[in-house]
Amino acid sequence: MEKHLQPGTIAAQALGDVDEATGAVVPPIHVASTFIRDPDNQYRKGFAYGRPDNATVRHAERVLAALECGSEALLTGSGMSAATMAFLALERPAHIVVPRVMYWGLKLWLAEDAPAHGIEATFVDASSTSEIEAAIRPGRTRMVWIETPANPLWSVSDIAETARIAHAAGARLGVDSTIATPVLTRPLTLGADVVMHSATKYLNGHSDLLAGALVFPGKDAYFERAARLRSRLGMILGPFEAALLLRGMRTLHLRVRHQCGAAMAIARHFDGHPRVAEVLYPGLPGRAGHNVAARQMDGGFGGMLSIRVKAGEQAAIAAAARVKVWKRATSLGGVESLIEHRASVEGAGSPCPTDLLRLSTGIEDPADLIADLEQALAGN
Ligand SMILES: Cc1ncc(COP(=O)(O)O)c(C=O)c1O
Repeated sequence: MEKHLQPGTIAAQALGDVDEATGAVVPPIHVASTFIRDPDNQYRKGFAYGRPDNATVRHAERVLAALECGSEALLTGSGMSAATMAFLALERPAHIVVPRVMYWGLKLWLAEDAPAHGIEATFVDASSTSEIEAAIRPGRTRMVWIETPANPLWSVSDIAETARIAHAAGARLGVDSTIATPVLTRPLTLGADVVMHSATKYLNGHSDLLAGALVFPGKDAYFERAARLRSRLGMILGPFEAALLLRGMRTLHLRVRHQCGAAMAIARHFDGHPRVAEVLYPGLPGRAGHNVAARQMDGGFGGMLSIRVKAGEQAAIAAAARVKVWKRATSLGGVESLIEHRASVEGAGSPCPTDLLRLSTGIEDPADLIADLEQALAGN
C-alpha cells in the first residue's frame, strides 16, 4: 500500500493486503505451527516455526508499525507481557526512571518483581521533566518510561522533552501509549525509542481479546533482544487473536475520534457540577498538562477521564452501583462505556483518590451516557 496515504486509510484497509490465491479482501488466518523446509535445508520463505513466525501476526504488526510511524512491531499475548519485555530487554544492571502514577499492574511488577531481574526503578512525578531529570543517573539509567495520559488521573508527560533529557544521559525513552493510541500521538516521531500498547484496549476496541505490542523505530540491538526474548519465553500472540486485532484496527480511527468527542462532552458537562469535586481530563483548558497534551495529541485528548465525587468514597461506589447504560467493569478502550471505582481495584499504596470514578467512554450516544451519570449521581 502507498506510504503517503493517511493513517485512517492504512488502518481501514489493513495496509491493503489481499489474499493472492483467491483475491479475498480479508486475508486468511494462518494457523500452521510449522513450515516445510526447502530441499537444500533453507527456509527461504522466512517461516520456520509458529512461535517466532506467523503471517497473520506479522500482518497485524506491519499495520501497527505503519500507524506508529515505526519500522518494527512485536505483538505479545497481553499488554503486561509487552511492557515487561521492554524492561527485560535492557542491558544489566539497569536503573530505570518510571512514573509514580501509571497502570497499577505494571507498577506492581516494577516495584516487586523487577529487582530480581537486576532492574531497579526510581518512581517520579512524570508530569515534571525536572523531576525526571533529577532522578536520572547518567551512564546507569537505561530507560525512562512514561505513560501519557496516565492512569487514572490522566496526567500528561512531555514526550519530546523527556526524550531529549533521556538521550542526553544515554538512556532510552519508552512510552506506554495505550490511552493516546496512534490516532492521537505517535511517540516515535517525538523521539521515543519504543512504544508500548495494551492492544487489549483501543487498538482492538471490542473488549474481546488480550494482546500487547512494542513498536520500534528500527532493527537495532534492543529490538533484536526483545524479539529473541519473545521467542525464547514464548510471549506470543495467537493467530486468531491477531486476526481479531486486525479487524479491530480497521475501525480504530472512527472509534477513537468518537470517543474523544464523547469524553470531552462528558468532561464539560460535569466540570463544575454540584455533585462533582473535580473532573480529571487533559482536554479541559487551564488544567495541568493541557498545553502539553494540546501540542502532542492530534485531534483530541482521548476517551478516558475521571470524576471525583464530592460526597466521598461511599457515594462514589454507590453512584457506580446505580448506572444503567455504563457497564461497571475494569479495563478501557472498548465500544461500550465502562465505569469503575478505581481505588477498589488498586488497593493499598495506590495514589488514586478514594472518591474517584474512572470512566472509559465507548461509542454510544454521549447524551445517553451523560443522562445515566446524572441519574447515578443524583441518588447521593
Ligand atoms: C495503560 C495500560 N498499560 C498496560 C496495561 C496492561 O495491559 P493488559 O491488561 O493487556 O496486560 C493496561 C491494562 O489495563 C493499561 O491500562
